[in-house]
Amino acid sequence: MSILTDSVESLASYALHLAARPQTEPSEVFSTISALGLRKHPEGGYFVETDRDSNKISNPFLPQASAKARASREQEATRDTSTSIFYLLSPTSPFGAFHRNKGRTIHTLHRGRGCYIVIHADEAEKEAGVKARVEAFIVGHDVAHGEKLQWVVEGGKFKASFLLPDQHQERSTAGLLISETVTPGFEYSDHDFMTAHTLEELATVEQIKELSWLLRKSEG
Ligand code: GUN
Repeated sequence: MSILTDSVESLASYALHLAARPQTEPSEVFSTISALGLRKHPEGGYFVETDRDSNKISNPFLPQASAKARASREQEATRDTSTSIFYLLSPTSPFGAFHRNKGRTIHTLHRGRGCYIVIHADEAEKEAGVKARVEAFIVGHDVAHGEKLQWVVEGGKFKASFLLPDQHQERSTAGLLISETVTPGFEYSDHDFMTAHTLEELATVEQIKELSWLLRKSEG
């Protein structure tokens, strides 16, 4: 059974749809990229950091045992309080590859429609052979039909996202534009991409078939 239900067809059909993506962005997407000063994100899509609260807090991700030893390294001892970004998926860059952050991320929709997949890696039990829970949901403006305007992904969970056509349309005209706020503030050392090996550990064979197109390509 597909990870996605009812209103959305199988993920594999979206992979095919997105593979036939256009060479150039619709003009509305160009205007948004230019007006907001967005640039390419290594996950796919575009982003710009819009806020960084540089008041320092102690790094909650340091392992207890080594906290003292590492405290001398300012970069690891502390974190900025929070960061916010705009993030855009567009017809030519329509998905954000699976990755995870140690911090909790609050997402808010501004424009468009998309699908989020969350793999609850922190709930898997490798030794007991318990795979991770996989969750899929639609983000969009049709709240009466369960689409989300706001969603939170806790730290330690993998997420990926892809663009869906606007409601009752064949394509997206302006992309999927959201804001994300992460606490503590974003650092690459708190971020990692999912590998094919990790997906195999966390997901069932059926799920892997549906999800592997959302792995970052350059990972090999
Ligand atoms: N730099 C690269 N990716 C990100 C991100 O997701 N958030 C912030 N704030 N900066 C980034």
